[in-house]
Amino acid sequence: MADRRRLAAGNWKMNGTSADLVELDALADLSDPGCDVLICPPATLIGALVARANGRIHVGGQDCHVAASGAHTGDISAAMLRDAGATHVILGHSERRADHGETDAAVRAKAKAAQAAGLTTILCVGETLDQRDRGETMAVVTAQLDGSVPEDGDIAALVVAYEPVWAIGTGKVPSPDQIAEVHAGMRERLAQRFGAADAARIPLLYGGSVKADNAPAIFALPDVDGALVGGASLKASDFVPIVRALGAA
Ligand code: PGA
Repeated sequence: MADRRRLAAGNWKMNGTSADLVELDALADLSDPGCDVLICPPATLIGALVARANGRIHVGGQDCHVAASGAHTGDISAAMLRDAGATHVILGHSERRADHGETDAAVRAKAKAAQAAGLTTILCVGETLDQRDRGETMAVVTAQLDGSVPEDGDIAALVVAYEPVWAIGTGKVPSPDQIAEVHAGMRERLAQRFGAADAARIPLLYGGSVKADNAPAIFALPDVDGALVGGASLKASDFVPIVRALGAA
């Protein structure tokens, strides 16, 4: 996996209350995981996770507003996430694209705001099953990458996650060949935009029904630098083996 940082990222989505903070302990206690470990809890738990992790794992947000502050009831800015101790933010997740109508342009503007606040963006792209069945996977992923990644982006603060919509929360996972094809295509597209050397530094995560039993095969793929994990990140007993598989890859 070259010399790129490898990242095991957990996305708790709208799950978790203070009773679940205990799930952090086994993760934070991993003495040498061999990769970066990140949990993105609901915003209500960011401060408590940061305090409990005490620097041993990274904590991130699941979205941010494009503005730094202002009259936007219910929203959270990138600067606020940073202030709470977050180092990363997930942007353009398919659930936000679907539930909140987020366009590539909106995601791109948020990515710029995240960068300005000093956050690393985990930018999500991925096709629906219909799009895959129509043979449009690479076209969809490429268009999302082109539209969502800021042109003058700081490559060091960018992670891209390939998350096929049909694989999220379904237990369905693309074949290794399908994942490898998309990851190689994303790397090539990023190289066209940013040059091969910079593109080679961008960690590319796979996300969608990653579990302990399928993680080793996924992490063995050449352009896969980690995972964005939803359901299996909620319990330490599920997530720790995934972190270990990445560390051992
Ligand atoms: P899942 O979610 O692991 O539950 O499929 C992945 C994601 O949405 O990031």
